[in-house]
Amino acid sequence: MERTLSIIKPDAVSKAVIGKIIDWFERKGIRIVAMKMVRMSKEQAEAFYAVHKDKPFYDSLTDFMSSGPVVVMVLEGENVIQKNREIMGATNPKDAAPGTIRKEFATDVEKNAVHGSDSPETAKQEIAFFFSEYELLSSTK
Ligand code: CMP
Repeated sequence: MERTLSIIKPDAVSKAVIGKIIDWFERKGIRIVAMKMVRMSKEQAEAFYAVHKDKPFYDSLTDFMSSGPVVVMVLEGENVIQKNREIMGATNPKDAAPGTIRKEFATDVEKNAVHGSDSPETAKQEIAFFFSEYELLSSTK
């Protein structure tokens, strides 16, 4: 069993599609084992996306990610990191395949509705960024 971090971003929260996105995951057989709504500070968003600090979109991205509440979730399942990335679709919704979350709900390449960890190492770090051990006790294992 693998775990990954998923974020429903401020654009999707303000469009009131939290339930639809969660339904998307559940219909694909992905289990949610931890979940909460939080509002990141600019500093927290900068820390979360530190890997992108040299990118031209870093300031705008961290402004956006701290502009309103997000829903953070730990997803669990076999090969869930890759599976989640397929369900989300390409980063830029213009390139996202039909039937993916980003094709359906994203606004543009920045306001792209959802985030998902891209590797087991990143998933571990990103889960620990938002969740304590105590909050991670539930499991489908
Ligand atoms: P995410 O999967 O959360 O990882 C990094 C984020 O940076 C990405 O989704 C987008 O929200 C944002 N991003 C990636 N590329 C661009 C870009 N070219 N312009 C603006 N934002 C981007």
